[in-house]
Amino acid sequence: MKKKQSILSTLPEPDSAQKALSQELVKHIKRHLTQGNGLSFSQFMELALYAPNLGYYANGLAKFGASGDFTTAPELSSLFGQCLARQLDELLRTLSDASVLELGAGSGVLACTILTTLAQLNRLPVSYAILEPSAALQERQRAYLSAHLPAFVFDRVVWLKQLPQNFVGVIVGNEVADALPVEVLRLLPNDAQQGYVVWDAQQASFVWDWREIVDAKLQDQANMIRSTVGDIPTQGYLAEVCQVLPAWMASLSESLQQGAILLIDYGYGSKEFFASRRWMGSLRAHYRHRAHNNPFWYPGLQDLTAHVNFTALAQAGFDAGLTVAGYTTQAHFLLALGITSLIDEDADVVTHLKLAQQIKTLTMPDEMGENFKAMVFLKEMVCPLTGFSLRDLRMSL
Ligand SMILES: C[S@@+](CC[C@H](N)C(=O)[O-])C[C@H]1O[C@@H](n2cnc3c(N)ncnc32)[C@H](O)[C@@H]1O
Repeated sequence: MKKKQSILSTLPEPDSAQKALSQELVKHIKRHLTQGNGLSFSQFMELALYAPNLGYYANGLAKFGASGDFTTAPELSSLFGQCLARQLDELLRTLSDASVLELGAGSGVLACTILTTLAQLNRLPVSYAILEPSAALQERQRAYLSAHLPAFVFDRVVWLKQLPQNFVGVIVGNEVADALPVEVLRLLPNDAQQGYVVWDAQQASFVWDWREIVDAKLQDQANMIRSTVGDIPTQGYLAEVCQVLPAWMASLSESLQQGAILLIDYGYGSKEFFASRRWMGSLRAHYRHRAHNNPFWYPGLQDLTAHVNFTALAQAGFDAGLTVAGYTTQAHFLLALGITSLIDEDADVVTHLKLAQQIKTLTMPDEMGENFKAMVFLKEMVCPLTGFSLRDLRMSL
């Protein structure tokens, strides 16, 4: 019988410099392992993504676009950022002296499209602040935006070290919530365990160490997941819980004096998130445009992410004093904001086809259209929200 090839053996081999960088990160994480009672998965994920200079988002290696590991919507097409800017225009118009704050700005391409479009709409914000934990990405954003924006627009961009106080305006984040560290639970028919990470010297790799759950809040989550899933399959049911979500939303709400928070990401409401067919969970590693489920392969060289539980996100926002003002699919969000009207009818055939293909990728249900959702929270303001006017999915949460 032919042996099934592991997906890991099909991944492109990192070069020696990349392997050396990963080795440094492994040593760094191993030093943390010896402290306390081992690392829970969220602690491992935090280090693998954000350890200074070494973690995936903190090292200088390419991440976005064709030469990187994944392509986000703003990298795929400027039509995405143009639509987002239309929604921001509507919100900024309702506020006075308002700014934009982008969380996790990646390569800076979304900031560039938003600012260019807002300048065309004569709606430039007082400032465009970026909160980016990765120093390497901050540098990249600065270089990209200074090269692509006119000076009078670039002058409005500022990089923050922490969330501002009394912020008036719109906080926006695309694919940021999926990068927050998660705990991984394994539900068995009569038991529930939490994923810890240990070092296996024989395999020269980090491996899972499944332990009894001792955290009462996590146990509550496990019970809630069990009742949503129904019968737990004998092979077990993996599920991620983002325990930092409530504190994260509380910090955003506290920072916001008046305005909106607009988050776009892949994920589902709880019922869909914990459907019995999703027994493998949503934790994924991304390397050179291939997704797999081994989070321990070359730490620092691959992205780690988990889908967003939008029910948990909405609850966290509500608990933090925000109004959950809209929840819809990315397709409905972009269509409501007129993505199809952004194609210039006079464009040549090749450009026309290229843009039509981008719209298809952004909106078709089997591509990014349904898996990605947009959610908006409001504080101390009411405002028409065109992006959320075509389809309201809040009742599904
Ligand atoms: C998947 S990338 C998305 C980048 C970009 N928004 C895009 O759509 O192309 C995740 C980004 O979120 C940043 N990030 C992670 N945690 C964050 C946090 N707590 N606050 C702000 N940014 C964060 C990462 O450094 C990275 O820039």
